[in-house]
Amino acid sequence: MSKVKIVYWSGTGNTEAMAQAVADGAKSAGADAELIPVGTASVADLAGEKAFALGCPSMGAEQLEEGEMEPFMAELEGSLSGKSVGLFGSYGWGNQEWMRDWEDRCKNAGASVVNDEGVAFLGAPDDATVSALQGLGAALASRA
Ligand SMILES: Cc1cc2nc3c(=O)[nH]c(=O)nc-3n(C[C@H](O)[C@H](O)[C@H](O)COP(=O)(O)O)c2cc1C
Repeated sequence: MSKVKIVYWSGTGNTEAMAQAVADGAKSAGADAELIPVGTASVADLAGEKAFALGCPSMGAEQLEEGEMEPFMAELEGSLSGKSVGLFGSYGWGNQEWMRDWEDRCKNAGASVVNDEGVAFLGAPDDATVSALQGLGAALASRA
């Protein structure tokens, strides 16, 4: 059975709820899913994975969360070539620049971003966003 790993950071739970929806979608598609808070993840966890998801809200000034996710991403970048990555995260007031930068970063590292863009949503995910995230989980399951 394929497995979809979902590495995420969430301060107030919105991105965590999004991560859960990705996991639900992967499971509905017949895969296993593992939710991994980035603080407990290591880049080696993803070394053998062809397809996985990364979640982080917009923090700082349109940046990844800098204590855990940014260092993780910086280390991961060197091993992203050829991988399929699903990106998602919540934001509060910005123009989603953090997500566009994150997409570019993954693509520049040689990864393919599922659907060519991440799923960004203001605040807690609504029903349509949960559906989109479930679809993302299913897409990752088919590539894992
Ligand atoms: C320190 C801090 C910085 C933030 N910076 C931004 C930002 O630059 N742009 C934005 O749209 N939202 C920003 N936000 C809002 C968060 O992205 C938003 O509250 C999000 O829903 C948090 O997701 P979470 O519940 O997964 O932690 C910031 C929030 C905090 C606490």
